[in-house]
Amino acid sequence: MTPTIPIERVPASPTGAVADWLVAGVWEGEKPPADLDAATNGLLGWLATAGDLTGKPLELVPLYVPPGLSAHRVMLVGLGKRAEATRLRFHEAGAAVARAITGKPVGTLAAAAPGAGGGLGAADALHAFGVGLTQGCVGPGLRKSAPSRFAPGKLVFALPADCGFNPTDVLARIAAEARGMWLARALVNTPPADLYPETFAATAVEQARAVGAEAEVWDEHRLAAERMGALLAVARGSDRPPRLVVLRYAGNPGGPTLALVGKGVTFDSGGLSLKTTEQMVDMKCDMAGAAAVLGGVRAAAELRLPVNLLGVLALVENMPSGKAMKLGDVLTARNGKTIEVLNTDAEGRLILADALCYAAEQRPAAVLDFATLTGACMVALGPHVSGLMTNNDPWGDAVLAAAARAGERAWKLPMDAHYDDMIRSKVADMRNTGGSRYGGAITAAKLLQQFVGDVPWAHLDIAGPAWAEGESAAADSGGTGCMVRTIVELARAGVP
Ligand code: BES
Ligand code: MN
Ligand code: ZN
Repeated sequence: MTPTIPIERVPASPTGAVADWLVAGVWEGEKPPADLDAATNGLLGWLATAGDLTGKPLELVPLYVPPGLSAHRVMLVGLGKRAEATRLRFHEAGAAVARAITGKPVGTLAAAAPGAGGGLGAADALHAFGVGLTQGCVGPGLRKSAPSRFAPGKLVFALPADCGFNPTDVLARIAAEARGMWLARALVNTPPADLYPETFAATAVEQARAVGAEAEVWDEHRLAAERMGALLAVARGSDRPPRLVVLRYAGNPGGPTLALVGKGVTFDSGGLSLKTTEQMVDMKCDMAGAAAVLGGVRAAAELRLPVNLLGVLALVENMPSGKAMKLGDVLTARNGKTIEVLNTDAEGRLILADALCYAAEQRPAAVLDFATLTGACMVALGPHVSGLMTNNDPWGDAVLAAAARAGERAWKLPMDAHYDDMIRSKVADMRNTGGSRYGGAITAAKLLQQFVGDVPWAHLDIAGPAWAEGESAAADSGGTGCMVRTIVELARAGVP
């Protein structure tokens, strides 16, 4: 399912890299890279003087059969002003240059290190640029009979011995995060006829075992024995039985554990509260939280990070049928709390209620869930920023800091006590909607909070960033692989 592009280092300067394409960054307001300029007898400097090479963000300038270089072609990509560089900027530059090249078959794609910029050292800059490159090599056209994108045969980083950092560590990280993000994106992009709870669980088992993590799959009988009444109620409308996958990676035996929980609704029709076609058309993306957890655990395990991770994937399909849960039904979750269903389209919080209960019972040091939970979060923050809600500000702030280090965007929303009033029910312990359009991301989080007890918990509503409706210079449409890098950053930081 996931691409397998070999990622290697060649201990050579970019001028000597043998490749079909060499990619290199150019800073705005600075001279072009001196090594390439010297080897090409001043070609880059001439282009800069002529105004053809400015280094403005994401500017692309191709050079065909350039003199003095071992590469057949060069693509120069603008990095913007050095002082303004961020992880996101390096990532976008890498993705944009790879997207521009991979519209035709490519044998070897070689890359030069962009160098330090902003607050980032040369190793961090290369890491962000490199992950961007890997993602720009792969598009969403999984099923096109005539491909429109071509994964390169090989991705090589031209890093001479005096590059100033340990290339082995950086390359291992680029490769592990690339594979985690490719996996998450492929899962999100797979049509829902093919990706449903059973097939998702099978992929999770295969991917976890490939990197030495454990995976256990619970079927519908086990879920009933485990009293997961809210998750089972959502699943009941579908012909596809639900699954819950428990992933375990033990990189620090005896130490504390970080629990990661993902919403995995493989298709969200809304159930009896049926969505319109407009609202339903992209709802194969509603398992992006579970995909992020699987991709993130896979990457952390491949890197052998010294941390213990518990991953919980709650996998269901939300469908209307004669067996579907109804409005007015009251569900009993694993911890005995009751939930009145007033809208079957607010299903994510129901499956997460049971999954969070289980995660919290394992007494992890902290829990973090990932969910394409509400359209309201997109109304609040727009399509590119995730909403963070927490019962523990230090833990929530640690998650925000990890996301910032990963170059991913998240913003905290308030969780004041008065929002609790909005989910009160006349007949049960709580109801599954806030009863109005207002504060919808927060009322959803307030329901989740009822199931984590006193464990430090944070919730990331990724409804916007998990899915790109259209393409841009730096990103393909479809699944984005969001939060895989944030999980790696959290795992690197260790359990709080
Ligand atoms: N999966 C949706 C949320 C969503 C919307 C994700 C758009 C990605 C893009 C979720 O299950 C849902 O339907 N939420 C409802 C909740 C409402 C019924 C209280 C929503 O946001 O409208
Ligand atoms: Mn829904
Ligand atoms: Zn949903």
